[in-house]
Amino acid sequence: PLLPVILCGGTGTRLWPLSRASYPKQYWALAGEHTLLQQTQQRLQGLGQLQPPLLICNEDHRFIVAEQMRQIGVEPSGILLEPMGRNTAPAVAIAALQATSKGEDPLLLVLAADHVIQDPSTFRDAVDAGRDAAIAGRLVTFGIVPTAPETGYGYIEAAAGLDPTTPVPIARFVEKPDVQTAETFLASGRFTWNSGMFLFRASAVLAEMERLVPELLNSCRAALNNDSADLEFLRLDRESFANCPNLAIDVAVMEKTSLGSVLPLQAGWSDVGSWGALWETANQDADGNVLRGQVINEGSRNCYLRSEHRLLVGLGIENLVVVETDDAVLVAHRDRAQEVKKIVNQLQARN
Ligand code: GDD
Ligand code: MG
Repeated sequence: PLLPVILCGGTGTRLWPLSRASYPKQYWALAGEHTLLQQTQQRLQGLGQLQPPLLICNEDHRFIVAEQMRQIGVEPSGILLEPMGRNTAPAVAIAALQATSKGEDPLLLVLAADHVIQDPSTFRDAVDAGRDAAIAGRLVTFGIVPTAPETGYGYIEAAAGLDPTTPVPIARFVEKPDVQTAETFLASGRFTWNSGMFLFRASAVLAEMERLVPELLNSCRAALNNDSADLEFLRLDRESFANCPNLAIDVAVMEKTSLGSVLPLQAGWSDVGSWGALWETANQDADGNVLRGQVINEGSRNCYLRSEHRLLVGLGIENLVVVETDDAVLVAHRDRAQEVKKIVNQLQARN
């Protein structure tokens, strides 16, 4: 069986002021009619041996997650509730422990809840191409074929020529290189972007965690042991989970294991990391504008204009991002939209 594990406990600060701790970006409809979380589940339809997803989110968002799954007619295998964020390695550990709790050992398809993939059928082909290797015990990652020397992603170097039909062993990970390095990576043809999506047996990732991060796995075991299940929710024990080291799965396991393999993916992927990225992937009008909500535009160019509540008017402006919400308005140059993360950090420090 193939068990999707959807990680949806992140806060998505670069899409402030829409994305907030109280309602992060994966729960918003940012690229179409459905939310990013719903699209994550919907693009799996058609995969063989597919089980209902296991979702892992912050306990404050349990009703949002349950309601969004209900809206698309999906009854999850479970919704695991974190009392606080501990990054993606503990989330994957908890999901793998839960998936094996009844003696089963499914293939886990670990997915971020905040990605856009324009070509779901190519994505499903990649999942199928990874199955045999994952069944045999490899930890398969989906590497995005790079289109530009981005410095905001981690890169994965393949040990052999990339092949979309079968995973090849990973030589190394390189976290966020500078532009010159990134350019040489692109030219070599052996590098892909780390997408944060993985396919492996539950037992395979648990065995590597036992070896590489045993204390993390022990805290996760303790957090699940003291579980209390109500309805479809499974709550983790606060004290045990608080002891868990804060680590990304990439850092805790994928960068260190010798069992990693990479499959190249060319499916119109974007991590919707910033308003600028969202503008790039959206359907722009003839003047390069993207308008969302109650917006009137006259003579503006290459702008992203979004209104949640009030009428927003753009008049003759260029290269701006304007996002209106009920208690905050962002006006930013499109090229600097990444930097709202800094502002959010300042705001958090002030509170
Ligand atoms: N359950 C849970 N708990 N989920 C989490 C947590 C957590 O503490 N932290 C993050 N997530 C979820 C997010 O909601 C998102 O769906 C996914 O895990 C990835 O987390 P992000 O916070 O969005 O990570 P990132 O985008 O900065 O970096 C990751 O993705 C990049 C590509 O989008 C890394 O894997 C990078 O290496 C990668 O390039
Ligand atoms: Mg992300």
